[in-house]
Amino acid sequence: MASTLLTGIGELTTNDDELGRMRDAAVVVDGDLVAWVGEASAAPAADELVDVGGRAVLPGWVDSHTHLVFAGDRTAEFEARMAGEAYAAGGIGVTVAATRAATDAELAANLDRLVDEALRGGTTALETKTGYGLTVADELRSARIAAGRADSVSFLGAHLVPSEASDDEAYVDLVVGDMLAAVAPHVDAVDVFCELGAFDERQSRRVLEAARAAGLALRVHGNQLGPGPGVRLAVELGALSVDHVAFLDEEEVLLLAESWHGGRGTVATVLPACDLSTRMPLAPARRLLDAGAVVAIATNCNPGTSYTTSMAFCVATAVLQMGLTIEEAVRAATLGGAVALDRDAPRVGPDGRALAPLGRIRPGARADLQVLDAPSITHLAYRPGVPLVHALWRAGERVV
Ligand code: NIG
Repeated sequence: MASTLLTGIGELTTNDDELGRMRDAAVVVDGDLVAWVGEASAAPAADELVDVGGRAVLPGWVDSHTHLVFAGDRTAEFEARMAGEAYAAGGIGVTVAATRAATDAELAANLDRLVDEALRGGTTALETKTGYGLTVADELRSARIAAGRADSVSFLGAHLVPSEASDDEAYVDLVVGDMLAAVAPHVDAVDVFCELGAFDERQSRRVLEAARAAGLALRVHGNQLGPGPGVRLAVELGALSVDHVAFLDEEEVLLLAESWHGGRGTVATVLPACDLSTRMPLAPARRLLDAGAVVAIATNCNPGTSYTTSMAFCVATAVLQMGLTIEEAVRAATLGGAVALDRDAPRVGPDGRALAPLGRIRPGARADLQVLDAPSITHLAYRPGVPLVHALWRAGERVV
């Protein structure tokens, strides 16, 4: 792959503590990596030159929470909610039925459509989950379809107890037994919906402990619909992230912050589009940051509670409604997501391949860069709803 010099960068957001936010900057991309970052006047030569005309450049979005392996649509449920009905996790069953009835090709095509939509919106890395199959065969094919199409795949067999299960315990036995054994080679993490109406603390703990024993990373859907044990459990078991976190008391906020004292802790992932679409309180992202927690912003794209792939929308909401500065929101939607995926440093993939870090623009990082049709990242919140991706590189390849 030829090297490319991006020059004429009016404002460069690197997320690198030393490089910071730069003006009149340039970046050299070589192969799939960033090779050089600095003042435009000092830039080395490259095979190709792209002058971005004073625009803002930032890392591609890292969407660390999506549910993209599904079929069907829940417009009617959304309409009922907008007319005043409360969200209930039972809607998941509607998507489970549609997903089971779909062919592999239909599931793959829907996933490709959404990954492509996300990419055009600036998302260069994403996590996705199983969780709408809920049989060994349907979870396995969901995991297989997701593998290779997402940067990270989580097994969410513990999403809902399916209607055919004889009882909750028998279903948890299946999840931690045959289901986990079948999907484990295709996923890197296990997630659990720890919530009233889904899985309680004891059941969630069983799922997470089985995941840990299988050598997989842990994630938790916690404190989404009300107070609950999800956050405490996630921190206690060393989960990479606890997602939703809409209902937090002060102790839980401090617990999330303190989880980072002396090592890697648990990321608090806020999902602003989901909070809006379910008419739930917005997660206290401001409070989390003030306490010293590590925050990620993700879309939670799924057909029930958040049918959007737009990280830019989530960033704008975090600024306009959650009280974050634009710098904080952009960092949470790029580096925050990378930390939640444990991809903020070089890693080795399951196949032994080197995985370049995500979420920063600095030498050695994966060359995931978005050029905004704007002079500054401030426009992401100042011009909400306006598609601002002018150009995009993913792993060194120009895709927009
Ligand atoms: O993250 N909370 C659980 N899972 C999804 C909702 C899935 C659905 O309703 O289909 C979420 O919001």
